[in-house]
Amino acid sequence: MAVTCNEAWEKITLHQDPSLKELFADDPERVEKLSARLELTRGDVATGILFDWSKTHLTDDLLSDFEELALACGFDDMREKLFAGEVVNPTEGRAAEHSALRGVGKESSVEEADALRERMRLMVGAMHEGAFGEIKHLIHIGIGGSALGPALAVDALARDLPVVDVHVVSNIDGVALEEAFEACDPATTFIAVASKTFTTIETMTNAQSALKWLADSGVEDSTGRVIALTAAPEKAVEWGVDETRILPFAESVGGRYSLWSSIGFPVAIAVGWEDFQAILDGAARVDEHFRDTDGRKNLPLRAAFADLYYSRIKGAQTRAVFAYDERLRLLPDYLQQLEMESNGKSVTVEGHPTEPTAPITWGGVGTDAQHAVFQLLHQGTHLIPVDFIASVEAGDTLDAAHHHILLMNCFAQGAALMAGKSSDDPHRNYPGDRPSATILVDDLDATTFGALVAFHEHRTFANAVLMNINPFDQFGVELGKEIAKKIEAGGERFDPSTEALLKAAGVS
Ligand code: F6P
Repeated sequence: MAVTCNEAWEKITLHQDPSLKELFADDPERVEKLSARLELTRGDVATGILFDWSKTHLTDDLLSDFEELALACGFDDMREKLFAGEVVNPTEGRAAEHSALRGVGKESSVEEADALRERMRLMVGAMHEGAFGEIKHLIHIGIGGSALGPALAVDALARDLPVVDVHVVSNIDGVALEEAFEACDPATTFIAVASKTFTTIETMTNAQSALKWLADSGVEDSTGRVIALTAAPEKAVEWGVDETRILPFAESVGGRYSLWSSIGFPVAIAVGWEDFQAILDGAARVDEHFRDTDGRKNLPLRAAFADLYYSRIKGAQTRAVFAYDERLRLLPDYLQQLEMESNGKSVTVEGHPTEPTAPITWGGVGTDAQHAVFQLLHQGTHLIPVDFIASVEAGDTLDAAHHHILLMNCFAQGAALMAGKSSDDPHRNYPGDRPSATILVDDLDATTFGALVAFHEHRTFANAVLMNINPFDQFGVELGKEIAKKIEAGGERFDPSTEALLKAAGVS
């Protein structure tokens, strides 16, 4: 008889937890069973990513029970709905069609996305060819999902001679915008205003100031220098952007899943169209894998099994991600929004209180983090599953020693966390048995980058489905916005602490 979701969870809680060392000793095929390559191609060139989950406590039995859980929670059905463009965000009555932007999804949505992408390709081409005059700089203004993806992609992929120098500005703190102004020549600068809603206060205020900067610097048609990236083109027109300068995307694309839409415009501007398309193609390959692979062989789903084992069963409150690649230094920031805004919920889809949901995502870059936070990972009291991400090929052209040391350190940390080292001196004792996963990219380029990001999107979705929460809404961010508006408007009284702060700032 089929078990319910709750029964399947119950069963998982009954598992004994052998140590990682024991798991390796008991099963000589453990590495083969728990690591897999995702094969990718770029043109005729083969590339890929190795996902090694063998240093987690997943076992054959545990995987079977998680597969049963997936079945009981209707994972297949939800996944089908996701790719069919059906409503998977019931609180807002929306589909979540980010994969359609990569060519995998409902036919009509893929066609619509193709048409919008073609419009963007023509715009990018025209700008590169000089149809809009000389463009040396692009200030991309957006926040949250309208900034984190572009910032990550540009930082990762546009390091060597970007076609156009891109600055991503998100913070309302004018210091951020001023920093971009300092680096750009107004005579050769375009502004991209990226906002799904085209109403976000930070973005609209920054955009206004950027226009003023252009005008004050003697640029005659400053609004002519604006490209709007939005799902609300009518709002962009109202704001003053010429219709021909608007690159729209579909309402069914969520902000934190929008890198692949026109929100990726600065990426295409910086790296060129071919590389932007390669990002989409790498992501599409993961879409197909996620859509067509069942059970433990499905890599994002398998990762979600481990995530949930630690967060729900073992009580891990955080998960850490360390990119042993300077080009991915912004990945933890990106993943924080993806995972915490998606799965930081405390009610089920039906609105009932739920067991713990998303852990706090945090992390940094290796090897820097080793000399800052790894003490706690090795000897602290928290259980923190760690992901290591690295590239076999170096991103630099210096002496090969740099990359070799980087990579060896990455592997050493996973090995040390697992093995530990006993000592009679408690201060020098390493308990070990601390889980980690390693994602090893053949070569970090546009294709593998796209695949890496899409892997995390689907992992986040899989986590949500097994927890029976909605990963596609974000009502939690609204209350703060509302109160900020009220405080700004004045005339209302707040709690004594807030009142005292307002007074100290000379506001009331
Ligand atoms: O405040 C949260 C949020 O709505 C995010 O989900 C979104 O990515 C960000 O604000 C920016 O929104 P917009 O693209 O509409 O400006």
